[in-house]
Amino acid sequence: ITVYVPMDTAAVAVGANDVARAIQAEADRRGLGIALVRNGSRGLLWLEPLVEVATPQGRMAYGPVEPDDVPGLFDAGWLHGGGHALAHGPTEDIPYLKNQERLTFARVGVIDPLSLDDYRALGGYEGLRKALALPPEAIVAEVADSGLRGRGGAAFPTGVKWKTVLETAAPRKYVVCNADEGDSGTFSDRMLMEGDPYSLIEGMTIAGLAVQATYGYIYVRSEYPVAISVLETAIQRARQAGWLGADIQGSGRGFDLEVRCGAGAYICGEETSLLESIEGKRGLVRAKPPLPAVAGLFGRPTVVNNVISLATVPLVLARGAGHYRDFGMGRSRGTLPFQLAGNIRRGGLVEKAFGVTLRELLHDYGGGSASGRPLRAVQVGGPLGAYLPESLWDAPLDYESYAAVSAMVGHGGIVAFDDTVDMAAMAEYAMEFCAIESCGKCTPCRIGSTRGVEVIHRIRDNEGRADQVELLRDLCDTMLAGSLCALGGMTPYPVLSALDHFPEDFGLPASAGA
Ligand code: NAI
Ligand code: SF4
Repeated sequence: ITVYVPMDTAAVAVGANDVARAIQAEADRRGLGIALVRNGSRGLLWLEPLVEVATPQGRMAYGPVEPDDVPGLFDAGWLHGGGHALAHGPTEDIPYLKNQERLTFARVGVIDPLSLDDYRALGGYEGLRKALALPPEAIVAEVADSGLRGRGGAAFPTGVKWKTVLETAAPRKYVVCNADEGDSGTFSDRMLMEGDPYSLIEGMTIAGLAVQATYGYIYVRSEYPVAISVLETAIQRARQAGWLGADIQGSGRGFDLEVRCGAGAYICGEETSLLESIEGKRGLVRAKPPLPAVAGLFGRPTVVNNVISLATVPLVLARGAGHYRDFGMGRSRGTLPFQLAGNIRRGGLVEKAFGVTLRELLHDYGGGSASGRPLRAVQVGGPLGAYLPESLWDAPLDYESYAAVSAMVGHGGIVAFDDTVDMAAMAEYAMEFCAIESCGKCTPCRIGSTRGVEVIHRIRDNEGRADQVELLRDLCDTMLAGSLCALGGMTPYPVLSALDHFPEDFGLPASAGA
């Protein structure tokens, strides 16, 4: 009988390793033979540690399990799907999971992340097999047709980026995966790397074939030690099995890659400072142009893509561009793994086609606030994303609809706040975050963010409030227009959205808002 206990960081953080040990010890004590598999997380984080038992009726879910619950679970006959207060029935029937559209995350939480057999049994390496039979231009065309856009947050069309790299002649090209997931409240990159690392490796290999690059780097933040070790083992195993190296599956085409560990700077998630960091330099932003697609790592044409973009590519190749493009709305095709965090009852990962609304995510999936108080503000798209009031929660989540209300979907991070939040304090925090994380290269961001903290402080203290609000708007305009990269350029979004949608928190009349 197979018992699954996640080894994902979110599950381990709430005791999954202790639970795994307790289950093995109890099974040994009772003389019961079990196969304990450490899988990734299903993304139902409020139920972690979520333990599953494979029964003839399918995988049964129990959670959140604590070590002390383990003897009782055995007593209740859980190895045969027996009832228990922690039982949730078949995992796949839990509405939170059942109502999702899991494409990129189809295998996450299901398989043993390091088992190539598991991976291949569920469609793994079918995309690369197809790609190996195609010329580079055809691979790029397939990705372009799928409508896939950059999932790191900027939503630039992946196919167009790859075409630029393919068409730029150079003796050496690179594929770089940006796994420096720095946005607050986000964890989809980590979950994917820990739960299905081969999909990222396969996606990067396909990218290599598409743009004629033979080497790649996965730049992972140092805060993700589990992801780093899972990836390193997976790379080794893929190489041993002939899925990486100089001659992939006897095709005569080669690609290999390695993991690079970041050192903890938010700005190293910005693609050009990330490249500087891989080159061994301090993480300073480079001016664009030239784009990394033309002159990137070591001055060579480089594909820089986020984890989710790359891990989606195998599916696009395996099932065809049309299959992926059929999900979504408008120009936002496919799905996005939304990540519910903050003051939310059922936090976790929800992969849905574009077009779902924030209200559905917050209530149908998230179950409202964790505190039980009314939700008031929601930050979408990380620390540089806008705060949205309830009047905007019915807008469909797609890149264009959000841009129309001066917000952004970004990397899909959703952080909820209840009615005790002080939005002026959140605005001040946004400026403070920018001041701390600024790389210091340009003045609007380096100086502007520090002045911004001071100005918001004065507004909150009612020192010449009206003048200071005007000054703050002026400062935001300068940062928006004059910053070299998105950190300084987008910090005004959380600040202005707080001011426009929640003016009363700044001591202003409600009509002084937008
Ligand atoms: P950008 O819009 O400048 O570029 C997006 C991507 O498209 C880049 O890779 C760029 O090199 C490429 N590109 C642009 N024009 C191109 C062309 N003509 N040909 C080929 N490639 C082209 O945005 P940027 O500065 O790279 O990213 C900003 C975004 O990052 C924000 O919108 C934010 O959502 C996101 N972000 C994500 C974080 C995370 O943790 N995932 C953290 C912070 C920001
Ligand atoms: Fe550096 Fe900030 Fe300028 Fe970006 S906006 S280049 S982080 S100083």
